[in-house]
Amino acid sequence: MAETPGRLAGRVAVVTGAGQGLGRAFAHRLAQEGARVAVADRNAEAARTVAGEIGVAALAVPVDVADEASVASMVDTVAGAFGGIDILVNNAAVFSTLEMRPFEEIGVPEWDLVMAVNVRGPFLCSRAATPLMRRAGHGRIVNISSAAVLLGRPRYLHYVTSKAAVIGMTRSLATELGPDGITVNAVLPGSTETEVPRATVTAEQAARIVDRQAVKRRQVPADLVGVVAFLAGPDSDFMTGQCVNVDGGAAFL
Ligand SMILES: NC(=O)c1ccc[n+]([C@@H]2O[C@H](COP(=O)([O-])OP(=O)(O)OC[C@H]3O[C@@H](n4cnc5c(N)ncnc54)[C@H](O)[C@@H]3O)[C@@H](O)[C@H]2O)c1
Repeated sequence: MAETPGRLAGRVAVVTGAGQGLGRAFAHRLAQEGARVAVADRNAEAARTVAGEIGVAALAVPVDVADEASVASMVDTVAGAFGGIDILVNNAAVFSTLEMRPFEEIGVPEWDLVMAVNVRGPFLCSRAATPLMRRAGHGRIVNISSAAVLLGRPRYLHYVTSKAAVIGMTRSLATELGPDGITVNAVLPGSTETEVPRATVTAEQAARIVDRQAVKRRQVPADLVGVVAFLAGPDSDFMTGQCVNVDGGAAFL
């Protein structure tokens, strides 16, 4: 019997920040569902490694999402190699490298860097990819926000503020792009353990996080990939401008 094609067969996806962590897991899953995937990351070597893990359906593309010219060149490269862009996962962010500190101690350069990557980044990538989606009459933008916004997590105000901005961006973009057949949704992951160690989550903090959840275990990337694939695929055709909170039941929308 012939193999059933994946639900993303024929689609082209860009996953930013896919050189490690959640983006890497999203890129793997979208490829498993049949999409060709651009692994777009500032860390070119990491992007190449992940594209190599995925195989022929993947292309490593170096990009700084905060830089307009770099984003334009990334989109051109993907369009040249794959013929278009159907799915954009705005995942790249300044995140695992952040140190937690009281808000008075956050310097302006650090604040500006977080805003440039986490807010300007999804704006630039969406703006560069939508002409291709409009031309195709179809598109999916999945913005990775954070459940930290719902919990008002303290001691990284720049990060939480940037992820709240992504929710506003998701809603307004959904309204602007709906008539063109492009949906825009946000995923709000809870604190998720990836292969990347983080100073922001000590063993004690991890235990406190689990204690607050309804589901009593640490969240892992596999808890999120199906939701991203759903929002990237045909089953979510009539859903746009929404926030999907995946945090084991720590906060309720
Ligand atoms: N892991 C969690 O607990 C968690 C929870 C909520 C939300 N999130 C969000 O999920 C996403 C992925 O998280 P993660 O844990 O994999 O983070 P991570 O820090 O491990 O990975 C971020 C990736 O983005 C890339 N990147 C950083 N700046 C970039 C730039 N300017 N241009 C292009 N690429 C850039 C990095 O090279 C890296 O590969 C982020 O948006 C993060 O805010 C993560």
